[in-house]
Amino acid sequence: MSTTQPVYASFKSIGAYVPEKILSNEDLEKMVDTSDEWITKRTGIKERHLAADDEYTSDMGVKAAKLAIERAGLTSEDIDLVICATVTPDYFNMPSTACIISEKLGIRNVQAFDFAAACSGFVYGLSVAKAFIESGMKKNVLVIGAEKFSSIVDYTDRSTCILFGDGAGAAVISATNNKKEAFIDVHASADGAYADFLVTPAPGTVNPVSQKVLDEGLQYVQMKGNETFKLAVKTLTKDVKEILKKNDIPSEEIPHFIPHQANYRIIKAVGDALKMQEEQVVVTVHKYGNTSAASIPMAINDIWESGRLKQGELMLLDTFGGGLTWASALLPFAGESAQR
Ligand code: ACO
Repeated sequence: MSTTQPVYASFKSIGAYVPEKILSNEDLEKMVDTSDEWITKRTGIKERHLAADDEYTSDMGVKAAKLAIERAGLTSEDIDLVICATVTPDYFNMPSTACIISEKLGIRNVQAFDFAAACSGFVYGLSVAKAFIESGMKKNVLVIGAEKFSSIVDYTDRSTCILFGDGAGAAVISATNNKKEAFIDVHASADGAYADFLVTPAPGTVNPVSQKVLDEGLQYVQMKGNETFKLAVKTLTKDVKEILKKNDIPSEEIPHFIPHQANYRIIKAVGDALKMQEEQVVVTVHKYGNTSAASIPMAINDIWESGRLKQGELMLLDTFGGGLTWASALLPFAGESAQR
């Protein structure tokens, strides 16, 4: 790659990890006052995967990252930045999960850090990777979205425990001079006015660990579900319309629309607003639930492994999460198609 020509960021590879254990709607019927019918109708979710007790966010991130590095035709030594999007890190203060993942992958003396943008984390990470690469600072960035969401879910609260699952996804974003491989656009934004829509009240400086925290269950995720739902549909639709308009690409030219997998009704409403055909819209929420920052890379991995996503094809990513945060990206898949 020449450094005198313009340098672009390209999406070279994808990997994911899904934990073995399955929590089905029928299992949840035995735990809280709910039904498979209610969950399916309101969310589209049939089952979600949960990490084992001794399986941590970094373990899942490592498994996804190993695949992504190998599929990019690289080794750990080629990676010069490791970033991990997560709101369920191994440790809430330090060390970062990115540092632990780097160590487990044998990546040493390389910049590594976590960042929190909830479900928008992976696409936020793409914007960070793009900036580092286009500024010439880095060449191969490992972007990971990994969550052990089950660690912050109260399995006696039916309004949240039906929604979330665990998992990880990772991508290698590399420098290229080939404009055809380049990211077209990434847009990430936030509005803290809605910070109370999705909150994990503890641990943190507002609620340090105490008996009161445990007695009141403040370590668990709390969500204003209905308000979040309405804002998600509105924001996701607006954001994706804007990125398509700005880049003069009609929605019918998008082969792979990959929205955040929180609720099938949200996905359907946004797809319909964009006049997308069913085959353009990627849906994995029925089998993984909402895996927060891992949701989009897990979905990309699914369509890559099944042979649906091929080299050069355009992806439109669209996500929304706690913060509130949202982000969209328009980019070709620059890696090789899966060998089938
Ligand atoms: N089983 C049965 N009944 C339930 C359940 C359940 N699991 N959960 C709630 N209910 C009941 C409620 O108690 C309520 O009963 P009431 O009318 O007697 O009071 C009724 O069902 C309706 O509740 P709503 O909360 O209004 O249901 P809604 O249709 O909004 O669905 C849901 C709830 C699925 C959570 C939906 O609001 C949603 O998906 N919200 C968006 C989530 C999202 O997009 N998150 C993205 C970001 S996530 C992140 O960043 C980590």
